Amino acid sequence: MANKLNVTDTILRDASQSQAATRMRLEDMLPGCELLDKIGYWSLECWGGATFDACMRFLGEDPWERLRALRKALPNTRLQMLLRGQNILGYRHYSDDVVEAFVKKSIENGIDVIRTFDALNDTRNMEAAMRYTKKYGGFCEAALSYTVSPVHSEAYFVRLAGELKEMGADSICIKDMANLLLPYDAYSLVSKLKKAVDIPIHLHTHNTTGTGDMTNLKACEAGVDIVDTALSPLANGTSQPSTEALVATLKGTERDTGLDLMALNRAAAYFRTVADKLKAEGLLDPKVLNVDSKTLLYQVPGGMLSNLLSQLKQAKAEDRYYDVLAEVPRVRADFGYPPLVTPTSQIVGSQSVMNVLMGRYKTFTKESKALLRGEYGRLPGEVSEEIRRMAIGDEEVITCRPADRLEPELDKLRAEVKGIAKSEEDVLSYALFPQVALKFFEERKKKEEKAAPEDTVRELTVEYLGN
Ligand code: CO
Repeated sequence: MANKLNVTDTILRDASQSQAATRMRLEDMLPGCELLDKIGYWSLECWGGATFDACMRFLGEDPWERLRALRKALPNTRLQMLLRGQNILGYRHYSDDVVEAFVKKSIENGIDVIRTFDALNDTRNMEAAMRYTKKYGGFCEAALSYTVSPVHSEAYFVRLAGELKEMGADSICIKDMANLLLPYDAYSLVSKLKKAVDIPIHLHTHNTTGTGDMTNLKACEAGVDIVDTALSPLANGTSQPSTEALVATLKGTERDTGLDLMALNRAAAYFRTVADKLKAEGLLDPKVLNVDSKTLLYQVPGGMLSNLLSQLKQAKAEDRYYDVLAEVPRVRADFGYPPLVTPTSQIVGSQSVMNVLMGRYKTFTKESKALLRGEYGRLPGEVSEEIRRMAIGDEEVITCRPADRLEPELDKLRAEVKGIAKSEEDVLSYALFPQVALKFFEERKKKEEKAAPEDTVRELTVEYLGN
């Protein structure tokens, strides 16, 4: 397999999200863009995921403006985003017309590659996003949400990849958000996927459990086409393994990435100053770099472990931590083995805490009921009917594509922000995060008003002089 390994760098999105709570600012990205653009990456992941929300909520930045600025600063590199299928970048299902408008605008404003996933691997939740990505000329990467369970066999993922290819995927991503994919399992899974589908296979893992570099290397030996890594200043731990380490490892081999270590080093030197700044602001906690072997034992993502602990602290029941860890697999089995990723990790986690503190299934959270009712889509394994009856009684279980129950909503959303939204992009920001967007629009307006008088004076002066 004498073909070079392609590299996607995540420094502008997942690395910043995983290590620095998505607080890297556009003004800190732009000075590094020329260096990044020269490297020759397959793509730069730079938008989507939690960046959209964080831009408006914490940074006072317009996410669309950020995208346009990155597009301009990175003319030679594919720009990639992460999309949660029918949830777009929010936390509920949106109607198809909103999904279409969002995908269209993402591509128009500069995105090339849209990586789409669904927490439950329910392909019906990915259909619309994938269809519109193709319709508007984007590169459609469909992701398998990787997890470990009795139903998530290799055969399951191979079948899923085949289905996604039939649906029009241009490449398949193995999305290992919790770093559960062990190196030899990666070798085996990638080998089988390469045999089963004739489109590129892209691996996304993290280094939370300390196996990330080995997983990338074994996947590379099995013929994976593209891997995700992050430049060293924000690499490792809860983030991706480092780009430079992989590039150096493969130098001179048949999978040589062709990337220049000196060029990577120049870009890394710049982003080290950004990482230091984030550290100084307290936004980058060196704890994210610790290897978390608990995840290997309990197969619970790192982020979920810290959430469980903080829920228990609030309830003054930290001593029940290991009881909750033992409860998680049980709840997960009863609920049909959902992968533990947003939002199912929170749902299974909260239910496990309640079971331990109040007695098993004495109460159900609203979200547990919705999940068991089928509102999020089809659960991968069999749900315990006994538990389902305890949660929702005789209520009907939804078996259709969840979005088929939604009326078109874009016109209604447009009407709601008439006179406030200045563009279709603004309408979409509002659709995804209504309160956050309204507050952002208001502050943006204030800023503009402050700037406006000067502009008016200048215009008048020009007019006067002109006359
Ligand atoms: Co990730």
